[in-house]
Amino acid sequence: MGTSKQSFGLLFLVSILLSGNFFICRSLADGVTAEEARQLRDEVREMFYHAFDGYMEHAFPLDELRPLSCEGEDSLGGYALTLVDSLDTLALLGDRERFTTSVEWIGKNLQFDINKTVSVFETTIRVLGGLLSAHLIASDYATGMKIPSYDNQLLNLAEDLARRLLPAFDTPTGIPFGSVNLLHGVDEHESKITSTAGGGTLTLEFGVLSRLTNDPIFEQVTKKAVLGIWARRSKLNLVGAHINVFTGEWTQKDAGIGTSIDSFYEYLLKAYLLFGDEEYLYIFQESYQAAMHYLFNDPWYVEVNMDSAAIVWLLFNSLQAFWPGLQVLAGDIDPAVRTHAAFFSVWKRYGFTPEGFNLATLTIQQGQKSYPLRPELIESTYLLYKATRDPRYLDAGRDMVASLQYGTRCPCGYCHISDVEFHKKEDHMESFFLAETVKYLWLLFDLAVGPDNLVENGPYKYIFSTEGHLLPATPQISLKREHCSYFGAYCKDGDSKQGSETSGVSADPQETNGSKFYGSWVHTGFPSDSFLESTSVPGLIKGLCPGLTHGQKYGITYLPLVDTAPEDVSPTQKEPSQPTVVQSHSVVVVSDQGAHLIQSKPNSDHKNAQEVSPGRPESDPPKI
Ligand SMILES: *[C@@H]1O[C@H](CO)[C@@H](O)[C@H](O)[C@H]1NC(C)=O
Ligand SMILES: *[C@@H]1O[C@H](CO)[C@@H](O)[C@H](O)[C@H]1NC(C)=O
Repeated sequence: MGTSKQSFGLLFLVSILLSGNFFICRSLADGVTAEEARQLRDEVREMFYHAFDGYMEHAFPLDELRPLSCEGEDSLGGYALTLVDSLDTLALLGDRERFTTSVEWIGKNLQFDINKTVSVFETTIRVLGGLLSAHLIASDYATGMKIPSYDNQLLNLAEDLARRLLPAFDTPTGIPFGSVNLLHGVDEHESKITSTAGGGTLTLEFGVLSRLTNDPIFEQVTKKAVLGIWARRSKLNLVGAHINVFTGEWTQKDAGIGTSIDSFYEYLLKAYLLFGDEEYLYIFQESYQAAMHYLFNDPWYVEVNMDSAAIVWLLFNSLQAFWPGLQVLAGDIDPAVRTHAAFFSVWKRYGFTPEGFNLATLTIQQGQKSYPLRPELIESTYLLYKATRDPRYLDAGRDMVASLQYGTRCPCGYCHISDVEFHKKEDHMESFFLAETVKYLWLLFDLAVGPDNLVENGPYKYIFSTEGHLLPATPQISLKREHCSYFGAYCKDGDSKQGSETSGVSADPQETNGSKFYGSWVHTGFPSDSFLESTSVPGLIKGLCPGLTHGQKYGITYLPLVDTAPEDVSPTQKEPSQPTVVQSHSVVVVSDQGAHLIQSKPNSDHKNAQEVSPGRPESDPPKI
């Protein structure tokens, strides 16, 4: 107890030291002008091509580029990984020519009947996700990037690959093995220990595949894996980092939002957002509430023992940086802003985020000095800019571009930094640099310029996978019709008018009437303050209405629309003795208990919902 008290005091001090004066400085700095945003966007585009062309010239068809020596290496399965991971970025940049030739090459040449043992998690998020997102773009006129010659080659490849991963799920708990051989199934001596992120970050890709192929098996096994993990949560609703897939015992009980767990949280919310499956939302709510209660030490996050909640790590780890972006999707903006500021102060200090930063000593954690071109902080920056339009996020993006250009640019691509203090370059470029890091930077500045891209102006709302892949909420994927017939049973007439406030959404003509499901998650999520309260009230969920915010869907009855401008988010209270009435995104909400004020954060304009953070299981850092 003594140590944990001390730790909290330190955390407080650290927050002041690190995040206190930073934004004061920034706010005095010159903001990014529109012209500068345009230049930055084009610079980021050039960054993409420097690395992509370098890969194609020197590494393709091997998996990844060695950007210092200008060679290639097979790092995952030997299937042109970087090209597969780059496909939807090519489409996003509007590069029809390279997108077309790349998709055609992959359709003709990729094959998975190879004697390779691969990570189920990495293969799913990078390869399966890359194939599926490219398929959904190449096969659809509405994206503007349809390829005439395309005949579902990538979808067929994705299905073939996923079937080769299925043997991994054959365990007593339903939680998959970490690795599987694509030819032979699970190796005889395969480890039975897997990470929470590894077992719980498969639902989006497998779910999309099920809905595209009409074979429910993929969705079933990955959901069972999530339920298998969740069933073994602690009494505090926390999950550990590593679990035995046979016994269900936790072999590593450190609960946190970073390494080994991160994208477990991410996919709970996103699976709900993309598929409308409420079970994921229940679990997300419970787990998010526990994370904010036990792990959040404003503005930092610690790791605690999942049973006792005793602090075990006083550490910022770079994978945690996806969290503010996830909070944007959940509508919990305030803590996201503070946490982003704290994390960015670490970036400012070194020019990059080290893998680990010790919050007790305010120094880089021993053995965690590297920056392997990770996207997480950039992704959160983009989503927070999207939600707030606060120019500070453009300034942050400009700093990040400068760091990458001056610190990591190498002859044939971009290099990892092995030591952020001395900016030492390493001869490696992870495929996620092109799938995520550059993508989110480009999206940030394109949004500032006045966006003209698939994500912001396209025919669907897109969810970003944890690898940054674009997964569209098409009617087939989001099962719009099904949701709406269900919703309809609970919603009063006026509720569904909400959907109209979203732009760039195409709905089926026959469904434009009262079935605006797309609008529902686009605009906001959990009103931050009331979220925890509202979730603690029993029996809350009574059904989900299209076009409503998450907060409005819980434990609250719906009143007819009052005359409010769609973008007017100012909360309006009626007499205190009455049930609390609040207007939020033009819907009036009355709490059942009359006690929970549901507020929407002013200026939080969550146009599109996206998300993500690769939860790359790593070796665990040393204890502090
Ligand atoms: C698969 O690879 C392993 C190890 O690389 C090797 O021992 C085995 O013989 C191979 N099996 C086949 C069928 O090629
Ligand atoms: C909308 O719903 C009303 C009443 O259910 C129906 O009369 C009308 O035809 C519908 N409009 C469309 C475009 O489906």
